[in-house]
Amino acid sequence: MDPFASLAEAYEAWYGTPLGAYVIAEEERALKGLLPPGESLLEVGAGTGYWLRRLPYPQKVGVEPSEAMLAVGRRRAPEATWVRAWGEALPFPGESFDVVLLFTTLEFVEDVERVLLEARRVLRPGGALVVGVLEALSPWAALYRRLGEKGVLPWAQARFLAREDLKALLGPPEAEGEAVFLAPEAHPPYEEADLAGRRAGNRPALYLGRWR
Ligand SMILES: C[S@@+](CC[C@H](N)C(=O)[O-])C[C@H]1O[C@@H](n2cnc3c(N)ncnc32)[C@H](O)[C@@H]1O
Repeated sequence: MDPFASLAEAYEAWYGTPLGAYVIAEEERALKGLLPPGESLLEVGAGTGYWLRRLPYPQKVGVEPSEAMLAVGRRRAPEATWVRAWGEALPFPGESFDVVLLFTTLEFVEDVERVLLEARRVLRPGGALVVGVLEALSPWAALYRRLGEKGVLPWAQARFLAREDLKALLGPPEAEGEAVFLAPEAHPPYEEADLAGRRAGNRPALYLGRWR
């Protein structure tokens, strides 16, 4: 069952709210800070193409299994090549891409290890694997876990990973990024709430790592 089937059209709507706009801008800053230059980018689990629209690579490919997300992605990010496929079996020869991005996708795949192996297989020698996860120990994951327990999609089908899980699977990253230390209940001004969350020692909502 596709947990995104009924969510695709409205998937980006939250980014239009004040908190959503703050969160996504912080995530974009962290992601762009970690992505290396290159010719070709593959995003696995590219969703509605939010990142493919914003990332400045000459060749962009999105892999997406959900027909509903894929339809929205194709419409909103026509500059990318879209392929309906699963991260566990990428339909590309080895050493095809300079950069492979997994952004909050591992939470929803069947087989995390298989997806990571596939991502590495299709990377050119010296290419970069960039992985972003919704940190399992963050206040945001606590909220989403609770919603999932109540059957709310897509969280009912999510599994959360902490940075330690990624490092156990991939080894030490070459570089790391973090964003969104404020809690989901934060009030404006969000910059102050974010700083307070950081000072309080909150795990951020987003952890990013880059591996070669
Ligand atoms: C939370 S969304 C993230 C979408 C996009 N990366 C973004 O940040 O806007 C997770 C995406 O992973 C996709 N997905 C689920 N299982 C997958 C799999 N086995 N392989 C690749 N993508 C998968 C979902 O269909 C969904 O579009």
